[in-house]
Amino acid sequence: MMKLPPQSNHYLDTILAYKKEGKAIAHFNISNLDQARAIADVAQELQQPVIIGVSEGEREYIGVKMVRTVIEELNEEYAIPIFLNADHTYTLEKVMEAVEAGYDSVIVDGAKLPYEENVALVRICTDAVRMYEEKTGKRVLVEAELGYIGQSSSLNQSLPEGVSEANLTTVEQAKDFVIRTGIDMFAPAIGNVHGMLVDAEEPKLHIDRLKEIAAAIDIPLVLHGASGNTDEDLRAAIDAGIALVHINTEIRKAFRDGEMNYLEEHPNEVAPYKFGKEGQEEMKKVVRAKMELYAK
Ligand code: G3H
Ligand code: ZN
Repeated sequence: MMKLPPQSNHYLDTILAYKKEGKAIAHFNISNLDQARAIADVAQELQQPVIIGVSEGEREYIGVKMVRTVIEELNEEYAIPIFLNADHTYTLEKVMEAVEAGYDSVIVDGAKLPYEENVALVRICTDAVRMYEEKTGKRVLVEAELGYIGQSSSLNQSLPEGVSEANLTTVEQAKDFVIRTGIDMFAPAIGNVHGMLVDAEEPKLHIDRLKEIAAAIDIPLVLHGASGNTDEDLRAAIDAGIALVHINTEIRKAFRDGEMNYLEEHPNEVAPYKFGKEGQEEMKKVVRAKMELYAK
């Protein structure tokens, strides 16, 4: 007999409960086990749930199934929930690979495509995930983006090509997109940009546009590309309705700097667990500051 997919699950309930309290859940990306453990340590210290995300490149580097196993082990070891997200996924094949591997959510990224192609890709993926839910009884959240904000969590000299204030998500398109795709969470472009500018300030977030979108849409809103945005802007975005905040570049940089500074001072050190620890410590400072800010 066909199992019915649950209408809600622990992940979605946790997001909604945070949102109701005017807080957001932190989403951090990882490329290795050191980073996963650093995030789990801070989440445990602050007694907050957390989402660990892996892009297609990040999860191929660690191993798609290996990431799931690592997160399962962390959930056994730590007393806080750690959810696993298949971040920025560009094809149906990769979406289903992550879903079948047991990820809790997946982001279908068609943001660079023309509008109708973005809608079509997301709809195909959402339908396939819903069929998987019916078959297994496991709920998997689907998120999608509208409005191009760049694709790379890197340090940049200038804004990525194709990112412009003229491409902010409009309320009308947001409504149409959410209805036609059947997604669970929505990531708009409101001045946010993937990556971080090296020598300049990040553009300010358009909080007014966000408020209009939040008033028109009743699924959780996600802020991507949050590295480099000011605390004031991030807090204002959460107050305006953002329920999840994604950070990658800032923690990548902190992790890299921690290791690099240690190795400069200890050029003969070859034990990864010693310089890795320094990367973790630097990264934890960023993770802690962000989580405290989002849950204020
Ligand atoms: O999905 C990942 C995030 O949107 C990361 O953005 O590199 O600007 O922090 P960021
Ligand atoms: Zn993102």
